Amino acid sequence: MKFYKHYLLTFSCLFFLVSCGSKFKSQPNKEITHDMLSGPQLNAQEYDDETGAASVRLPPKGTLPQGFEKNMMGMDLALADRTQSPLKNLPSEEHIQYAELGEEYYNISCKICHGETGAGDGKVASFMVRKPPSLLSLQARTYSPGRLYQIISVGKGLMGNYHGVIVNKQNPKQNQKLRWAVVEYVRQLQQNSQR
Ligand code: HEC
Repeated sequence: MKFYKHYLLTFSCLFFLVSCGSKFKSQPNKEITHDMLSGPQLNAQEYDDETGAASVRLPPKGTLPQGFEKNMMGMDLALADRTQSPLKNLPSEEHIQYAELGEEYYNISCKICHGETGAGDGKVASFMVRKPPSLLSLQARTYSPGRLYQIISVGKGLMGNYHGVIVNKQNPKQNQKLRWAVVEYVRQLQQNSQR
C-alpha cells in the first residue's frame, strides 16, 4: 500500500510536468485564464481605437514630476561647495523654526550613529565595523555647508543617503530645507564643542 502511494505521487507529478510543455512548438500554449496570452498587442505610443487600449506613453513635454525632487548636485564636490543654503535669506522667525526642525531631524536620523553632540558615540556606534566618524573633527569642520548637505543627500562611503528619510510627508516641498536645517544644526554642534 505504501509503495502504491509513492507510485501514484510520482506518476501524478510527471503527468503535471509533461502537460506543461507543448508537443507542437508552432502552437501557442493552452490558455488557462482567458486573455493572458492573447491580449491586444500594442507597440509603444500606440492607441487602439476599437478596444480603447493604450500602451505606455511619454508624458507631454514640460510635465513636472510631483513629489519628486531632482538632485542637481549629485556627487559634484565643486558644485556642492558653491551651493548656498536657502535658509540664509529666510526671515528670522522662519529661520528659528528651521533651527528647531534641524535639531529634531538630527536627533531622529543622525544621533543614533554620530551621537547627541556629534562626537561619533551614538548608541549603535560600538556595534559597527566602520565607526561613524566624529562630526566635530577638524576634517568635518572644514566641510562647506553645501558639502554637508551633499553628504546628507547622497551619502558618503559607507554612509547611506538620508534624502528619503528627512522628509515632511505632508509638505514634500519642505524636504530640501529640512536637510539644510540639519546642516545648520551640525554646524551649531561644531561651534558648541570645544576642541
Ligand atoms: C547608520 C549610521 C549612520 C547614520 C544614521 C548617519 N551616519 Fe553619517 N556616517 C556614518 C559612517 C559610517 C560614516 C563614514 C562613512 C565612510 O567614510 O565610509 C559617516 C560619515 C558622515 C560624514 C562625513 C564625516 C567625515 O569626516 O568625512 C558626515 C558629515 C555625516 N556622516 C553626517 C551625518 C548626518 C548629518 C546624518 C543624519 C542625517 C548621518 N550622518 C547619519 C554613519 C552614519
